[in-house]
Amino acid sequence: MQPDLTGKVVVITGASRGLGRAMALGFARAGADVVVSSRTAEACEEVAAEIRAVGRRAVVAPCHVGRWSECAHLIDRARATFGRIDVLVNNAGIAPVAPALQAIGEELFDKTLAVNLKGPLRLTALAADLMPDGASVINISSRASTKPTPPTVVYAAAKAGLNALTIAAAQEFGPRGIRVNAIVCGPFRTSSFTKALDGTVDEHALTDRIPLRRIGDPEEIIGTALWLGSAASSYVTGALITLDGGA
Ligand SMILES: NC(=O)c1ccc[n+]([C@@H]2O[C@H](COP(=O)([O-])OP(=O)(O)OC[C@H]3O[C@@H](n4cnc5c(N)ncnc54)[C@H](OP(=O)(O)O)[C@@H]3O)[C@@H](O)[C@H]2O)c1
Repeated sequence: MQPDLTGKVVVITGASRGLGRAMALGFARAGADVVVSSRTAEACEEVAAEIRAVGRRAVVAPCHVGRWSECAHLIDRARATFGRIDVLVNNAGIAPVAPALQAIGEELFDKTLAVNLKGPLRLTALAADLMPDGASVINISSRASTKPTPPTVVYAAAKAGLNALTIAAAQEFGPRGIRVNAIVCGPFRTSSFTKALDGTVDEHALTDRIPLRRIGDPEEIIGTALWLGSAASSYVTGALITLDGGA
C-alpha cells in the first residue's frame, strides 16, 4: 500500500549510503526515476545499478552540496536528462561532534553549515525552476534541531536553519504548487550513527528513552518520504514531521 510515483523524477543528495540510499531505492520501487548524488561517483554507481535492476532509470551526478557551482551541475544534469524535477530530497548531511564552544574552529563550523544548510538552500532555489505544480522538496533534518546539546551545537544550529528554510520556502513556493517539508529524524542505524556512538554513548540508555525501544532501521524512513513526495500529502507543506520512535 505505497504511493505510486511512476514516471516521477527524484533527485536525492547523499544517496550513496544510509538514509539516502534507502530512499533512492524506495522511490525507485515506487516507480520513480532517480538522480543519485553524493561526492563519490563509484558508490553512487552501485546504488544506480540497484535502481536499474528494478526497472527504473538512474543517473549518477556527483556533487559536494556545500559548493554552489557543484549544486548547479547537479541540477543541470537533472535538466539535461529528464527535463524536470518532481521531488528533491535534501538528504546529504554531516554531524561532526563539536568540542566545547570556546574550542569550536571556523573550519568545523563552516563545513557543517555548508553541507547541512547552504547546499539545501541553493539546491531548493535551483530545483524550483524545474519543478511543476505538485512537486515536492523534502529536507532531512534532525531532532537535534529542537533538542540541541553541547556536542551537537553546530549541527543542531544548521538543522534548525534547515527547519527555518523549510517553512520559508514553503511560503515562497506554495503559490506555485510546490510543497516543502522536513523529516525530523531521531536515531537511525546508519554508518554515521554507528560512528557517532563510537563507544561514547550507551545504546541501551538511548533506547530506554525511546518509547518504541529501538533505533530506527533506514528502511523506515521510506514510507514518510514517499508520502511527502506524492499526492498522498497534497495539502501538507511547511511541516516538520518527526520520525523518532516517539522520543
Ligand atoms: N542516522 C541518523 O541517526 C540521523 C539522525 C538524524 C538526522 N540524520 C540526517 O539524515 C541524513 C542522512 O544521514 P545518514 O545517517 O544516512 O548519513 P550517512 O550514512 O553518513 O550518509 C551521508 C550521505 O551524505 C553524503 N555526503 C556527505 N557529505 C557530503 C557532501 N559534502 N556533499 C554531498 N554529499 C555528502 C555521503 O556520501 P559521500 O561520502 O559519498 O559524499 C552519504 O551518501 C543527514 O542529513 C543526517 O543529518 C541522520
